[in-house]
Amino acid sequence: MDKFVVYGGNPLRGTIEVGGMKNSALGILFGTILTNDICIIENLPPVSDITNSLEILRECGAKIKMLSRTSAEIDTRCVQPCQAPYEMATKMRASYYVLGAELGRFGKTKSAYPGGCDFGVRPIDRHIKGFESLGADVEIVDGCVCAEAKEGVLRGTSIFMDDISVGATINIMLAAVRARGTTIIDNAAREPHVVDLANFLNACGANISGAGTDVIKIKGVSRLFGTTYAIIPDMIEAGTYMMAAAVNDGSRVEIKNVIPKHLESITAKLIEMGVEIKEDEDSLIVEKNGRLSKVNVKTLPYPGFPTDMQPQMCALQVTAQGTSMLIEGVWENRFRYTEELRKMGAQISVEGRAATIVGVDHLNAARVKATDLRAGVAMIIAALGAEGRSEIVDIYHIERGYEDIVEKLRAVGANISREMIKEDEASANKVI
Ligand code: EPZ
Repeated sequence: MDKFVVYGGNPLRGTIEVGGMKNSALGILFGTILTNDICIIENLPPVSDITNSLEILRECGAKIKMLSRTSAEIDTRCVQPCQAPYEMATKMRASYYVLGAELGRFGKTKSAYPGGCDFGVRPIDRHIKGFESLGADVEIVDGCVCAEAKEGVLRGTSIFMDDISVGATINIMLAAVRARGTTIIDNAAREPHVVDLANFLNACGANISGAGTDVIKIKGVSRLFGTTYAIIPDMIEAGTYMMAAAVNDGSRVEIKNVIPKHLESITAKLIEMGVEIKEDEDSLIVEKNGRLSKVNVKTLPYPGFPTDMQPQMCALQVTAQGTSMLIEGVWENRFRYTEELRKMGAQISVEGRAATIVGVDHLNAARVKATDLRAGVAMIIAALGAEGRSEIVDIYHIERGYEDIVEKLRAVGANISREMIKEDEASANKVI
């Protein structure tokens, strides 16, 4: 087991290149099942969620050849339904995309109830309701979701989502793309990765329009074909490095391979805090001088401020001048990590979905843990600003979604390293 060790206080200066979007890649990788052909997927982020998804595809019968660290050739001609292994599927949230993809291709599927970060209750009722509307019988048996199309075929229909769900929008698109007739998803998620999946499926011969708006229209086609497709840049990885660059005075970081439009809500809040941001076509420069000002933020579905940037924003608010509010508008319980920031001297009080943050002059270095993926990088951001040696444990959460984070931060001057946790330390950890 490893930990990250960070000595804070250094300004960050230089260039960071952002990789492909993890959450986009997850939908697209499982989407290759629908093609019954060979696809080449490029700009895949080499992170553990992607490795795990490729492993699930392999277990389902896909033949996968890595063409480079970030591109894979995926042949799904031999995929058989209902083969997703229980232990792998329960490790991550996005394994549920196997359900929509297999249902769309074979008319039946079975996979374990998905895992993922712990933000309180994470139901999948909207996915199930969508599959049922398309004409599938769905049951949960022994912790597995089993779905089968009545009479072997799904039929297009109109689906109104009571509340926006990214995963359910993606899963319904996957299931509907080869259904008979037209499906309309009303109140659909508008996230860039929903658009990326629609673009990928259209490149394979699908007929999807409206992705990126709240009404998506999917005209079912009888088959799809393989294609070569490059994943869009990861807006959350980009946003995370923007926040890292906003910690210490004298920082100036160019972030390359971004789509500035996807980052507008993050850019707007950082500017409000006093950070200087210059946008170019596919890059931006973040510059920090002087103390940050307080800011109020509420997370919302896209194009609102992303919930996946909420902990990183908190790591900045804790030392901003004044009292900031942070409201979680998507997840039931995404503030567990604030306990860790308190160990560094942050003054945060949480009531339900609202956190009140009284900015302190500085944070103290401490030993903290990554309670989930984004909370984990928030600990790195906080540690970059705290004088002295901080340690972050449970870093496997961070490695699910951030490619080469130590190398990327070291390249711009951060003092961060990955070290092994010694045995005596590991047992001492149990009591801290
Ligand atoms: C995706 O999760 C992302 N994960 C999450 O990112 C992200 O936080 C979330 O979208 C919101 O943007 C992936 O793409 C793999 P939802 P997802 O369905 O699809 C409720 C990260 O850090 N809901 O949009 O699971 C749900 O409980 C991860 O990369 C239902 O009630 O999120 C939540 O309150 C963490 N019933 C809200 O909707 C359902 O059937 C939004 O969830 C589905 C969701």
